[in-house]
Amino acid sequence: MDTAPKHIAILGSTGSIGTQTLDVVKAHPKELSVEVLTANTNADLLIKQAIEFNPNAVVIVDESHYQKVKEALTPFDIKVFAGQESLNQVVQMSTVDIVVTAMVGYSGLLPTIKAIEAHKNIALANKETLVVAGDLITQLIQENQVFITPVDSEHSAIFQCLSGEPNKIEKIILTASGGPFRGKTTNELKQVTLAQALKHPNWNMGAKITIDSATMMNKGLEVIEAKWLFGVTNQQIEVVVHPQSIIHSMVQFTDGSIKAQMGLPDMKLPIQYALSFPDRWKSDFPRLDFNLYSNLTFEQPNLSTFRCLALAYVALEKGGNMPAIVNAANEIAVAAFLKEKIGFLEIPTIIERAMNGMWFVPKPTYQDYVATDNETRKLAQSLIK
Ligand SMILES: NC(=O)c1ccc[n+]([C@@H]2O[C@H](COP(=O)([O-])OP(=O)(O)OC[C@H]3O[C@@H](n4cnc5c(N)ncnc54)[C@H](OP(=O)(O)O)[C@@H]3O)[C@@H](O)[C@H]2O)c1
Repeated sequence: MDTAPKHIAILGSTGSIGTQTLDVVKAHPKELSVEVLTANTNADLLIKQAIEFNPNAVVIVDESHYQKVKEALTPFDIKVFAGQESLNQVVQMSTVDIVVTAMVGYSGLLPTIKAIEAHKNIALANKETLVVAGDLITQLIQENQVFITPVDSEHSAIFQCLSGEPNKIEKIILTASGGPFRGKTTNELKQVTLAQALKHPNWNMGAKITIDSATMMNKGLEVIEAKWLFGVTNQQIEVVVHPQSIIHSMVQFTDGSIKAQMGLPDMKLPIQYALSFPDRWKSDFPRLDFNLYSNLTFEQPNLSTFRCLALAYVALEKGGNMPAIVNAANEIAVAAFLKEKIGFLEIPTIIERAMNGMWFVPKPTYQDYVATDNETRKLAQSLIK
């Protein structure tokens, strides 16, 4: 039976998740139609994508590129907007069904709130949104009766394990690849370079999440994301290092049975499922051949070497605005590491000092989150010489 295509807005269409989302659209032209594309600074790619996918509107956040995008798209029937505020408006367009939040960092928070308030379903890649303000987002989702489907491969795995499952969760087992520095000692981490940190063994991703994977902060952010997405307690989330990244995560039920979701490490599958749910669409992604993976291994994460994961656990326990503090300090520290202004081991040190130096708000409002993010960034920046 033919159904109308889902109209999607892709926030961050020029990034790793954004471009792979467009690959999924290309493979499913009857099921998906692109309504909005947005980029921060990459005007050339945004123009190319707009010409190929013919959206209703595009946003270039960096206003200095507006003229270029506008001129290039003048022959086409595509609206062109610029600036951060435009993101908050395009997600509310009446023609949009689903907003794919594929932008990186805290900047995803407000557009996601605006999209939910306009009753749009969310395909969530931007985990920072839930890390910063998980309580606010879950409350808004309930109030506005919208649906959130996870794009993160681990959360998609859990979501798939839970699909059609009426029974109670005993625990969630989040798998982690361990990143490029798995098994290294703290002493060895003192010497690692930016180029080494950017070389993830299994996944090809944007720069920020690649560094987060190397420090294992990514897993810490995902633990917090899982708490809000699946309504479990902190004690019900366990992290297991699984270097092959074949099992994307697991759910253990109260009878002790464990369900796992597996596949090759390819983000297109979870992206597609987030958009096809509750259906599964046929795909020609490469299939997992068990004969090539005779060794699936598991080990405990090393919290004393990978301090970022330990700090994320502290933030999870503390709650309130502490995860927002961790997120902002991490964004500043990772940006400084990417510019080679600080060493790898300074990332957790800056985060810890920000956690100790910021004020604590047990039940933050949206304004508290904004102030926390602002002030933490200033504090973290002051710690970078
Ligand atoms: N990559 C993965 O495999 C993966 C897996 C799971 C979850 N995620 C999550 O998905 C999100 C995106 O990750 P990514 O790896 O795709 O990042 P990425 O490759 O760095 O792409 C980020 C996108 O966001 C845009 N952007 C950056 N800063 C912005 C701002 N201030 N305002 C508006 N747009 C902005 C970028 O535009 P420009 O291109 O113009 O800079 C780009 O389109 C992150 O939250 C990440 O944790 C990613």
